[in-house]
Amino acid sequence: MKVPNIKTELPGPNAQRIIADDALLMSPSYTRSYPLVVKRGNGANIEDVDGNLFLDFSAGIAVTSTGHCHPEVISAVQRQAAQLIHMSGTDFYYPQMTEVAKRLSAIAPMPGPHKFYYGNSGAEAVECAIKLARYHTKRQNIIAFYGAFHGRTMGALSLTASKPQQKRRFAPMMPGVTHVPYPNVYRHCSTDQAEQEAYALSCARFIEEKLFRTTLPPEEVAAIVLEPIQGEGGYIVAPTIFLQEIRRICTRHGILMVVDEVQSGAGRTGKWFAVQHAGVEPDIVTMAKGIASGMPLGVCMSRAEIMDWIPGSHASTFGGNPVCLAAAMATIKILEREAIANAATVGEYMLQRMASWPHKHEMVGDVRGRGLMIGVEIVSDQERKTPAAAERDQLIQLAFERGLLLLGAGESTIRLTPPLIITAKQADVAMDILEDCIASLAMQHAMAA
Ligand SMILES: Cc1ncc(COP(=O)(O)O)c(C=O)c1O
Repeated sequence: MKVPNIKTELPGPNAQRIIADDALLMSPSYTRSYPLVVKRGNGANIEDVDGNLFLDFSAGIAVTSTGHCHPEVISAVQRQAAQLIHMSGTDFYYPQMTEVAKRLSAIAPMPGPHKFYYGNSGAEAVECAIKLARYHTKRQNIIAFYGAFHGRTMGALSLTASKPQQKRRFAPMMPGVTHVPYPNVYRHCSTDQAEQEAYALSCARFIEEKLFRTTLPPEEVAAIVLEPIQGEGGYIVAPTIFLQEIRRICTRHGILMVVDEVQSGAGRTGKWFAVQHAGVEPDIVTMAKGIASGMPLGVCMSRAEIMDWIPGSHASTFGGNPVCLAAAMATIKILEREAIANAATVGEYMLQRMASWPHKHEMVGDVRGRGLMIGVEIVSDQERKTPAAAERDQLIQLAFERGLLLLGAGESTIRLTPPLIITAKQADVAMDILEDCIASLAMQHAMAA
């Protein structure tokens, strides 16, 4: 089977009908980058409702970690659905809750014992982390970072600082949140490593040396919440020294270090958690997206002594649904057996090949990432690093027309987040298409000039 294989104009006739209905019926707040109407998925392949085949380097926003419809995930879901679909872990017990918790405890990025809370989404996992940090520390304030994306419910949204439209007309936000700079080394430094580390350190030290000495008493801060690699904000990788310094600041002031691994977790970066690349042990971790291969599950985990709240403090009717947990069990097995190692190997291969792109293509300012969490930043001027949002969007559209599914992130970055089971050959196909799109857009620009 040749993938991609585009047989109709896009969108095709069936897709056009559904998109017309969607325009009448669905919330206009959704952010569709191109008119893809999906019928089925298999591995890294997507078939649309007109029979066109696409190579999926979006994984449904970094979710289908084991590929679309992995046979082991399908059979786990089918078996569980035939036995018990729902009972609510809030009021009753069922064995899947502790079975998954035991597996997660074995892979957690900090020493145990651990405790776990299940929700239905990334935002719910973050809400849990916010409430838990406040409850446990009896402190109110939270520090988060510019560029962060933690979700769209009001607590998580209050920490989010990625794009103004995410917050416009939704104020007032939850009080007690202070945003500080995140170390975007591409935007602020040359390629000199010492310069990058000094800058990253200065971002962390701003908290202690400025914030704590002027406006925010450290003993009133419950948590510092961060993504080890900012996702929606542009695939920005925090230098190791920054994460280590945040850990030091948290430990020194009795503040909880909350690591949001909703996008970077579940093996995407070639380790279970992105924070593990820095050798840093957080206090609270949030997960969602890839942990159940597309079934909705959010996880908030902490060192056991932190999760000390009383019955009724926090819960959810659907959170930790047995079918979702069965999918998570199957997913964890596949990730451990092969997919995380594959993400490390194929990711490294892609990053190596793409490292030459800024030298070959004026439009590419930076290529960065870990494992299969890769960002390509598009600029109109390499020297000035001017973000080129329109060109980024055009490239994503061009790639779609050639059968490659990509998503944007940040102001002008393209994210590559395929399922973790892709082969090097599929990676080559995707990189060939994207590189071709970059070359043809550059050609269009040159002809227009
Ligand atoms: C790091 C991070 N946290 C939280 C969220 C929110 O997750 P959800 O959309 O499942 O609520 C996202 C979603 O993109 C995310 O990337």
